[in-house]
Amino acid sequence: MVLQGLRRLEYRGYDSAGIAVVAEGELSSAKKAGKLANLEKVLADRPLPAATVGIGHTRWATHGGPTDRNAHPHVSTGGDVAVVHNGIIENFASLRAECEAAGIEFSSDTDTEVAAHLLTAAYADAPEGEGRLAEAMRAICRRLEGAFTLVATHAAEPDTLVAARRSSPLVVGVGETADGTAEYFLGSDVAAFIGHTRNALELGQDQIVQIDRTAGVTVTDFAGAAVEPTAYTVDWDAAAAEKGGYDWFMLKEIAEQPKAIADTLLGRLGDHGNLILDEVRLSDQELRDIDKIFVVSCGTSFHAGLIAKYAIEHWTRIPVEVEVASEFRYRDPVLDRSTLVIVISQSGETMDTLMALRHAKEQKARVLAICNANGSTIPRESDAVLYTHAGPEIAVASTKAFLSQIVACYLVGLFLAQVRGMKYEDEVAAIVEDLRKLPDAVAQVLTGMDEVRALGRSLADADTVLFLGRHVGFPVALEGALKLKELAYIHAEGFAAGELKHGPIAVIDQGTPVVVIVPSPHSRESVHGKVVSNIQEVRARGARTIVIAEEGDEDVVPYADHLIRVPRTPTLLAPVVTTVPLQVLACEIATTRGLDVDQPRNLAKSVTVE
Ligand code: AGP
Repeated sequence: MVLQGLRRLEYRGYDSAGIAVVAEGELSSAKKAGKLANLEKVLADRPLPAATVGIGHTRWATHGGPTDRNAHPHVSTGGDVAVVHNGIIENFASLRAECEAAGIEFSSDTDTEVAAHLLTAAYADAPEGEGRLAEAMRAICRRLEGAFTLVATHAAEPDTLVAARRSSPLVVGVGETADGTAEYFLGSDVAAFIGHTRNALELGQDQIVQIDRTAGVTVTDFAGAAVEPTAYTVDWDAAAAEKGGYDWFMLKEIAEQPKAIADTLLGRLGDHGNLILDEVRLSDQELRDIDKIFVVSCGTSFHAGLIAKYAIEHWTRIPVEVEVASEFRYRDPVLDRSTLVIVISQSGETMDTLMALRHAKEQKARVLAICNANGSTIPRESDAVLYTHAGPEIAVASTKAFLSQIVACYLVGLFLAQVRGMKYEDEVAAIVEDLRKLPDAVAQVLTGMDEVRALGRSLADADTVLFLGRHVGFPVALEGALKLKELAYIHAEGFAAGELKHGPIAVIDQGTPVVVIVPSPHSRESVHGKVVSNIQEVRARGARTIVIAEEGDEDVVPYADHLIRVPRTPTLLAPVVTTVPLQVLACEIATTRGLDVDQPRNLAKSVTVE
């Protein structure tokens, strides 16, 4: 059961795995560097005893390389305590020195191992009887700095599991076996136990949960005060997280994009062309008071933010700044009560984004989260939330979540314009109509991907691929380059096409593939002609041009070595359709190169450390 849970969390990315069980008063564990298959081999040669309490972990190396000895669980010297940990214990060096001074020998290079040793000592000091392991956990958590989720088991407590949470994800699942016995789960996300139960409990910051065979679930804060956890039901099932006949989760998720967009729009577009965002818990007055917007996020979610800027500024005339979360809080941004900070996160657990949101709240700004994972930390700590309903995204590379994020940003922008009276009702209604057409437009793009795949196969040996775009096509170029880097490990860069002559054009050589995202020739603020010139400029210098252009755009035909057609879409909404061929292209190149599309090397799905 534990291995199965780890399998379901594989998508988060890892480089070693391990497991520990308590049976007949003894703790046994196994761990191995590499994929779960390596651990399974170890377990096949040396099976662990049957048990009803077990913990497991997939580790993404931070302190210490991805080796057998650094894999979790970490077991205390006497072999009584096993601990698994996500996050970083920032004061581990001084704690380790303290343990070493007390004669403890460490058997790994991790920050985690200190927790196992400290817990052993704290357990010895805790009063005997019920709740002893939880008391010990509280004692050590009060000393730990940083972000962590810890789960611990003790040989003397075969009916108990204890876990702690600070700024790192942890959810509790409450289920029943076939014969009606209660069973409990802990996981970094619900995917770990979704095959067993959809009933979950949310844990808050700085909380300890004890799971006991008879007493069930008890939650306290680090000081020991009782806390009532919030129960919720997971609204997707195990089937939604299966590959459903596709070779890769990513392919399935690309195919699900029309539905992901439709679901994100569902219930939010009114019959009269208006927007209904009741769930955004900011009053009309608060929305009217906003005089500046920051969009803060990471990676692909950052690209969604860049697209949001064009739409929100155009529709609302509110200035929008977009920034990667890891930079935002360290440069002391100017924020106050009338600033709206929009944080975008698929997982809702990205540490950089979470820290940026906390900084924004400290500065009294209003925070609105656009998030895909229900019950995750980022929406919980935000003032308001707009969920993208993309369903579970398992592949490390974000696809359907990205398109849903862009759509959610359009909704926010248009809603602000509606509330602030920046657009007439019929103008809002016209854009709403365009939004309604997006799922079909994406479905149409998906039906014509055979040529893109063939092109992908021919690019498998490329050393460098460049992506060019202007206006909203620029963030699309950045996203196309990111997809290629993360999936195919090919050097790729996205440029604003207008910047070409200011430097980047020097890298173009004979045969360099250059992907160009061409804006609609029909848009009012068209830079179409300029982009067509850019295609000619790179082609004249030997580039192999791959052109993504609207149906009917004949201007590009003479200069395109490969032409990928997308349906006509209003300029601001175009990224939703032009991104799709780039996802398919990257996926095909990676597959041709024999790479693991769903779990690219060195990457984690959700980056829960800074
Ligand atoms: C996307 O393909 C990436 N793997 C990554 O850039 C991701 O978008 C980023 O880490 C942000 O994650 P979040 O949306 O869960 O916060």
